Amino acid sequence: MEGSRGCNLVYILCIVFAAIVSLSMAHNDKNAGTPITRPHCKKTRGGCVAYNPIDKCWRCDRHWAKNRKRLANCAKGFGHGTYGGKKGRVYVVNDSSDEHVISPKPGTLRHAVLLPEPLWIIFSADMTIRLTQELIFASDKTIDGRGFDVHVAGGAGFMLQFVHNVIIHGLHMYDIVEGSGGMIRSKHDHVGIRGRSDGDAISIFRSSQVWVDHCSFARSYDGLIDIVAASTNVTISNCHFVKHDKALLFGASDKTPEDKIIKVTLAYNHFGRGLTQRLPAVRFGFVHVVNNDYTEWHSYAIGGADGATIISQGNRFVAADGARKEVTKREIAPESVWRKWTWRSEGDLMLNGAYFRQSGNPHWAKTYKGYPLIPALPAVNVPHLTKFVGASLNCKRGVAC
Ligand SMILES: *[C@@H]1O[C@H](CO)[C@@H](O)[C@H](O)[C@H]1NC(C)=O
Ligand SMILES: *[C@@H]1O[C@H](CO)[C@@H](O)[C@H](O)[C@H]1NC(C)=O
Repeated sequence: MEGSRGCNLVYILCIVFAAIVSLSMAHNDKNAGTPITRPHCKKTRGGCVAYNPIDKCWRCDRHWAKNRKRLANCAKGFGHGTYGGKKGRVYVVNDSSDEHVISPKPGTLRHAVLLPEPLWIIFSADMTIRLTQELIFASDKTIDGRGFDVHVAGGAGFMLQFVHNVIIHGLHMYDIVEGSGGMIRSKHDHVGIRGRSDGDAISIFRSSQVWVDHCSFARSYDGLIDIVAASTNVTISNCHFVKHDKALLFGASDKTPEDKIIKVTLAYNHFGRGLTQRLPAVRFGFVHVVNNDYTEWHSYAIGGADGATIISQGNRFVAADGARKEVTKREIAPESVWRKWTWRSEGDLMLNGAYFRQSGNPHWAKTYKGYPLIPALPAVNVPHLTKFVGASLNCKRGVAC
């Protein structure tokens, strides 16, 4: 909040300055009618005024590299209050290798995420990390890829199991494959035998308070993000999803009613090229889908089963040519049953024949009073709100991101 006020002030000063310049030009210059270029104002406008409320919380600070932990105050929606490693020291990953899954080398990402204390994990250089086995996290961690191109690719994915309070920011994750399993350190003081990992980019299992922001996802063996086993309080924002069949799965089985506790916010993401389905698919839980841009799905965008609740507000749905036009899909339940599932579309922009089949309680807002729902902005602004999704922000020291 403070940040956006500060930036708005800068922006206003910029406008005032520009007005003075153009006034004085009107006095002195016969070319007074030609538009003047204001690159600095443009940057401010782009960085601080035009983006979405989560980005406004930190992106305008040109000292972001010194103030990295400010990001910890920026989570909104169900993941709000997730502060990751804010209370810990900064850990610099300077080694992209992952050969030692029992005794990880200091300086590797695996060494960092296994430590029991809170850590704010950053990187020393551009790097590609190929995980030889799933990367098992301890609680209270932030992975902060800002400032470098950090790719987690060609190997296993992230496993957040029995943990809370994790921020994952600014990573490219793609070509994730199954881990073979075997002896792996799963805690700083525990090594055990593990089965094959699924091949999800991020798997969230019986965990809470997780915020995934500004990440780019594509092509994984299984899903891109799974949220299962009564995990809750998760926000996925500003991410870019492409080239995958079954992308996001929230609730893995019809036999786990404990997944009623699942609560996820999807905000300001772009679901783009080459996606087929599960954007997301939800069992039992509650998902708030707000101000996302959906520009390609082939089978469906938002699906669910088992009485899942889906509130869709201010999104833009553009049906691809030749693809199914319906946004929604209910899994194996007769209409007499799914009619009672609350799936509402409010202020969504439907293009190229896209349509959302609603059901359930139109007065849902009364039932869910007190839920941390991000207020929807008008759907026509979505291309703007999601213009800088993913991990390619190219943040440079000393310049607003
Ligand atoms: C890499 O980081 C580790 C852990 O902080 C440290 O022990 C090591 O000296 C660092 N190596 C280099 C080359 O900076
Ligand atoms: C989830 O967040 C709510 C507040 O929004 C809190 O009351 C609840 O305890 C949290 N649950 C878990 C498991 O962290």
